[in-house]
Amino acid sequence: MGRTVATGRAWGKVILLGEHAVVYGYPALAAALGRVLQVRFSAAPGVARAPADPLLARALDLTLPPGCHVGIRSEIPVGRGLGSSAALAVALVRARASWDGEDLSDGALFERALAIETLFHGRPSGVDQSVAAAGGILVFQRGIGSRPVPPRGPLPLVVMDSGAPGRTRDLVAAVAARRPTVDPLLARIGALVEQAQGCLGDLGALGALMDEDHGLLREMGVSTPRLDELVARARARGALGAKLAGAGGGGVAVALVREEEGPALAASLRDEGVPCFFACLPVWGQPQREPVEETEWT
Ligand code: PMV
Repeated sequence: MGRTVATGRAWGKVILLGEHAVVYGYPALAAALGRVLQVRFSAAPGVARAPADPLLARALDLTLPPGCHVGIRSEIPVGRGLGSSAALAVALVRARASWDGEDLSDGALFERALAIETLFHGRPSGVDQSVAAAGGILVFQRGIGSRPVPPRGPLPLVVMDSGAPGRTRDLVAAVAARRPTVDPLLARIGALVEQAQGCLGDLGALGALMDEDHGLLREMGVSTPRLDELVARARARGALGAKLAGAGGGGVAVALVREEEGPALAASLRDEGVPCFFACLPVWGQPQREPVEETEWT
């Protein structure tokens, strides 16, 4: 008898340093957020409904076995620069390989997930899929691939929602249109990632690099007044550093905090009406659990 159910899972992610520059071959430092997305294919009677989202429909065209239904459960907020589309792409590819009984190599997973992510975002660097698939903390470089970064202790973050969706496709295009003016900013961001690899255990130093990165992203034109405000608020409450995370134009800002201060800092921001959560990174390996909750900010 053939298979009747197959699942695939992947992590959400946070780019700690290096967004946008990574599109141009500079390294980026990213970590898995301990939030899981799960795809479940099941052979079910009846006609499957086509999803309303045309991009999702195309992604399913590439992955869903004939005659199957798909269920997607996720803890990753959508459209916030936290890698929900990359996690979906990775989970779809994993579910399909599991359905087919295929022993999926890391390279094949990356290429197939990248093809799906290209539907969503146009010209993704690949950093999101790498973290979604592998977990942990890694340095990713386009054309070279990813390399795990050895753990140097916890990375406590407060993730704050700007209330507006991130606009990955538009902002990647906007940065491209501003070249070569922005090239020195991209190069400096690349240098920050190199520096960060030597100071991951030193949260104060890492926070300073995140602050500088935010300034560069702002100069590049991808921040918003709300993101700047969230970054400033977190710093004023004692964060060690803060920056927008992801493509910008909306989405989230992340603040690096002292572990013992993180939950209280998140609670005080929430009291002021800022949707946010505390997360202690990294999480290693592939997700081994089902999503326990649907996406929630508070
Ligand atoms: O998908 P987002 O919003 O997390 O952005 C990904 C980071 C970018 O560097 C802006 C784009 C990319 O493909 O790397």
